[in-house]
Amino acid sequence: MPERPFLDPSGTRLFSRGLGPLLKLVRGEGVYVWDEAGNRYIDGSSGPICVNIGYGVGEVWEAALKQLEALPFAHSFHHSVDVVVKCALRLAEFTPPGLTRVFFCSGGSEATEAAAKMARQYHIERGEGSRYKVIARWQSYHGNTLGALSMSGNIQRRRLYGPLLLDFPHIPPAYCYRCWFGKNPDSCDLDCAWALETAIRAVGPEYVSAFIAEPIVGATLGTVPAPGGYFKVVREICNRYGVLFIADEVMTGFGRTGRRFALEHYGVEPDIMAVAKGLSSGYIPLGAVVASEAVFDAFERPFFHGHTYTGHPVACAVGLAVIEYIERCKLVERAAEMGRHLLGRLRELYDHEIVGDVRGLGLFAGVEFVADRESKEPFPPERRVNHRVYEACLRNGLLIYPGSGAVDGVRGDHIQVAPPLVVNRSQIDEIVDILHRSIGEVEGELGERP
Ligand SMILES: Cc1ncc(COP(=O)(O)O)c(C=O)c1O
Repeated sequence: MPERPFLDPSGTRLFSRGLGPLLKLVRGEGVYVWDEAGNRYIDGSSGPICVNIGYGVGEVWEAALKQLEALPFAHSFHHSVDVVVKCALRLAEFTPPGLTRVFFCSGGSEATEAAAKMARQYHIERGEGSRYKVIARWQSYHGNTLGALSMSGNIQRRRLYGPLLLDFPHIPPAYCYRCWFGKNPDSCDLDCAWALETAIRAVGPEYVSAFIAEPIVGATLGTVPAPGGYFKVVREICNRYGVLFIADEVMTGFGRTGRRFALEHYGVEPDIMAVAKGLSSGYIPLGAVVASEAVFDAFERPFFHGHTYTGHPVACAVGLAVIEYIERCKLVERAAEMGRHLLGRLRELYDHEIVGDVRGLGLFAGVEFVADRESKEPFPPERRVNHRVYEACLRNGLLIYPGSGAVDGVRGDHIQVAPPLVVNRSQIDEIVDILHRSIGEVEGELGERP
């Protein structure tokens, strides 16, 4: 059998997701995790930007244990459980005022896919059954199940499964550092937002059900906020053509950007919001779709969708405890304050020639690497710069989230820096100091070896 270096020797029965041996973690506390050899790592990315409240919060697992003991499961098709209803209420209070109705699921992909189905049924209920297409953006990520991947504009993740995907249109991303329209901040007239109107007209508004977007693009571009005014234009276009606006707040929600949800920075409300990750902070699989009263009101029949684990009592007990913890500890405000410190310090990374762009909002930051700062030329993918940075950080005791393909789906290297919202100033300094050292080491390696 040929050697397969991506296989993890310790995971003998598991399909491998990663590129090599996995770091075996055994424990977490606050912003730190420990491996089996007792080495400590500071988690600079909250796992894949999900452990918002940090590790080891006793009241969360106590809430889970209490529910496990009382009633671990009830089928939401037939039964009601108090904790599920309470979690929905609390979530609806936590989300922007116009979003009032909740549908639970088990993660981000399920949430975006349920949102697309909800939009489709909404139009059917209103007698507009021809509407089904969801317009999305290139260089976005909405999940890996087939419906969610059909919306995702992540070229690498789509490539293998292309023949299985639905024919959903994609418009250019809002990516100021590499503007697809050749504009700069002074000449910007939000062509990227107006592209939505062009796409709706091209498809025919009578076929368009929804537009989906991440308010700040996460893994695919490496934390890229849309320019100010972008979502106001999007909202206006959606209203004009009767298209629902779905905000994918799976990565950006629950305080991550210094507001409860990232779209609040833009002064706009969606019709439907998909959430996951921070909702349970990774303590258990949980996602949700939160819809406006107008969407809910259109439903003359039940929502024809659901899974065995829709409204899982233990997951909802965790979700409820996490939202309460975020509020009690004022983690949203904390993310705003600590985020200013993080971004301020991250800008010091411009000392390294290979750092092309530092961006973000709150405790949600990204660093893009370039071979040439002037021309923004990326490194050839085979130099694996994002992985080298990841590996150097790991050696130095820091976990960050690497990514590639921001330029064209293949070229481009970035990392996401997004520690748990409980992080303090000295821990942020620790993260940035390790980044400095690690990026310096990678620069050295790149200079030595082609
Ligand atoms: C913006 C966004 N949407 C959806 C998803 C999919 O979520 P999950 O991996 O929980 O299915 C992700 C995951 O990273 C995401 O970042």
